[in-house]
Amino acid sequence: MPSLTPSARGRVEPFHVMELLKAANERQRRVGDVLTMCAGQPSTPAPAPVRRAAVAAIASGAPHGYTDAMGVAALREAVAAHYGRTTGHALDPRRVAVTTGSSAAFTAVFLAAFDPADTVLMTRPGYPAYRNSLGALGCRAVELDCGPDVSFRATLDAVRAWTADQRRVPAGLILASPANPTGTVVDASELAALARWCEQEGVLLISDEIYHGITFGAVESSALATSDAAVVIGSFSKYYSMTGWRVGWAVLPEPLVRPVELLLGNLNICAPAIAQVAAVEAFGAEARAELDGHVARYAVNRDIVLSRLPELGVTRWAPCDGAFYAYADIGHLTDDSLRWCVDVLDATGVAVTPGVDFAPHHAEADASLDGSRWFRFSFAGATADCEEAMTRLAEYASR
Ligand SMILES: Cc1ncc(COP(=O)(O)O)c(C=O)c1O
Repeated sequence: MPSLTPSARGRVEPFHVMELLKAANERQRRVGDVLTMCAGQPSTPAPAPVRRAAVAAIASGAPHGYTDAMGVAALREAVAAHYGRTTGHALDPRRVAVTTGSSAAFTAVFLAAFDPADTVLMTRPGYPAYRNSLGALGCRAVELDCGPDVSFRATLDAVRAWTADQRRVPAGLILASPANPTGTVVDASELAALARWCEQEGVLLISDEIYHGITFGAVESSALATSDAAVVIGSFSKYYSMTGWRVGWAVLPEPLVRPVELLLGNLNICAPAIAQVAAVEAFGAEARAELDGHVARYAVNRDIVLSRLPELGVTRWAPCDGAFYAYADIGHLTDDSLRWCVDVLDATGVAVTPGVDFAPHHAEADASLDGSRWFRFSFAGATADCEEAMTRLAEYASR
């Protein structure tokens, strides 16, 4: 019998943090001393009104079968009202697609907007799933090297320079603000300038705003406030503390509404019904008060982690103006961040994420920025755990 040959496009890069998470879980069962600072998720449950709504939805005995592919009307309206409140921009709920986490929004938007071999620009360091899912769809993800000189942001100058060098415009540009892993925040005027350039050049701007709500002094802004031609991605996973509920959304430019609806219906049928119904409550005042309490804790954790990084000999880290990650240069300790993270877990029980997940091959431009010399510390957990993890890391680094 001929053996099965997996497809070339299915051969995506591993997400190394998953291996660490597996090793961390195994050590937790064996030793029980693990501090997990590698997961990109809050350690808290969904806000109380969301949990109450989910319990009531189940108790009602309603069938909770498939919903419309684009999501239940109440949630699409709630998302639109949320943008009305936060941007002052009236948004037609028809343009909101509710998806199975924002991850499903990315797949549907990539498929609806790009053809095989299309080029899409993104930042390096950046969130690896953009690159890997575009690659699996046959598109070309091109990473712009964004270092400390530009606060780890994709600037209009860099995008223009790429375009001039290549003598063509890309099909798309993905911007995350606040960004994972760097926490960098693109300010309103810069976002507006990039959005204007994209509109003029016919480039689809995809603005990943899933960390909105988690900033530390920086002012976040939505691409929706400046452009009706951009795709804006949101999620209940981060600020709303609902990662496993798997609900996110995309705000779509008019021409993508119908194609995305058709794709979602075929790819996912719909996002989880009970999670959708309950998520409506996440926008209410009671939920927001609870969630803002988490953000206040992240701010305390951030200050602790950043102020103690020098105990590891670290002198350089990314802006950390939003999201809940410290992304720091450990080039004085290793040039193999994956090995270092595995060794740290072995020696201390602290699980952190290697930079190779976010900035592979950065060495082509500047070896000191290569992900093999950086690590990411997620401070979304308890303050005491952040303190203890930093103590163990400092002790390990001084060995
Ligand atoms: C920048 C960024 N975008 C998108 C996602 C996907 O999140 P979800 O599918 O849970 O909405 C993540 C998850 O960590 C992320 O960090």
